[in-house]
Amino acid sequence: MVKINENFEKIEASYLFSTVAKKVAEFQKNNPDKKVIKLGIGDVTRPLPKVCIEAMKKAADEMGKADTFRGYGPEQGYDFLRNAIVENEYKGLGISPDEIFVSDGAKCDCGNIVDIFGENNKVAVTDPVYPVYVDTNVMSGRTGKYIDGKYEKLIYLPMTEENNFKPELPKEVPDLIYLCFPNNPTGTVLTKEELKVWVDYAKTNKSIILFDAAYCAFISEENIPKSIYEIEGAKDVAIEFKSYSKTAGFTGVRCGYVVLPKTVYAYDEDGNKIELNKLWNRRQCTKFNGTPYITQRGAEAIYTKEGQKEIKENIDYYKENAKIILEGLKEIGIKAYGGVNSPYVWLKTPNNMKSWDFFDMLLTKANVVGTPGEGFGPSGEGYFRLTAFGTRENTIEAMKRIKENLK
Ligand code: MLT
Repeated sequence: MVKINENFEKIEASYLFSTVAKKVAEFQKNNPDKKVIKLGIGDVTRPLPKVCIEAMKKAADEMGKADTFRGYGPEQGYDFLRNAIVENEYKGLGISPDEIFVSDGAKCDCGNIVDIFGENNKVAVTDPVYPVYVDTNVMSGRTGKYIDGKYEKLIYLPMTEENNFKPELPKEVPDLIYLCFPNNPTGTVLTKEELKVWVDYAKTNKSIILFDAAYCAFISEENIPKSIYEIEGAKDVAIEFKSYSKTAGFTGVRCGYVVLPKTVYAYDEDGNKIELNKLWNRRQCTKFNGTPYITQRGAEAIYTKEGQKEIKENIDYYKENAKIILEGLKEIGIKAYGGVNSPYVWLKTPNNMKSWDFFDMLLTKANVVGTPGEGFGPSGEGYFRLTAFGTRENTIEAMKRIKENLK
């Protein structure tokens, strides 16, 4: 008799965004005349930059000719892209191309990274949190049972209005610490000094920070780090995840990368220091066959002058949407956070409504979809996330409907 991985029995049957999509599909089926506006999952709506399209077309043509055709590429990514990443994202930060691992996106990387860590590591997550970090640790057996809304072995770092959505250092020392800033879902940020506290803490305690910087392109304020390696000492304790999804509209194309400095170590049972760069390389060579050549040429084009101009226009467009959402909520007296260095606006539900009740109310009355805070963890209860990735027209219309229904 085949046995399942029992850890799957500890997890919600459906992934958060799948649950939301299912509820919306059911509503639409029963109300075909309603025009639903989706500001739930953070999926982009602006088309790809033209330079990326041109680069991918050219790469596709190369694939059609015998002398330029390419089969399996390097599992770690082509040199042209690894070099471009170092040159454009990490100049002066001491990162080398062989510390970059190109992939099919940050969601997969954040989920797959657990492969290289022992099962008994203590894991800390902010609360609320991007569910992938929690779910993948449940699946790989690091969290224990789900009791009263929490996994018994996870360390939760609450982020609420009370602490300005800035996690406090935990009482119990974790081995792995997931941090995502600009934060998904709250849209809030840490300053360089605030992030330095975590880097120092990880150094002192021999912990490792898994830093998700997927939203760094949205940072516009001073003194907010776009990479954790801007912080002194981070090269010894941090692994960074970056994505072209939100930066350049690659949610459907799929491309991101992991930065794993050779100076980040963990230990085996005998206390020997092991270079994690080598382990990740080994893992990728076995389980991943590289990001498609065409995709990597598209990603490389983002770093041209024209590419930078086009992605900035798209990011500014989304940031203007975020402003429209924030201002609209303010007008009707709803407290909202984030949305300045981030595409996400995190609002406090009116009259302390439960976040799934607020979801139902917004869907049925305003026909607007958002993401209930509780889906991101227990401290997300009473909050709700709206994304600025919609079209301008839909964002304006959604706010008009929200104002009409909530004022
Ligand atoms: C989100 O809505 O939180 C993101 O789209 C999820 C993701 O990037 O996978």
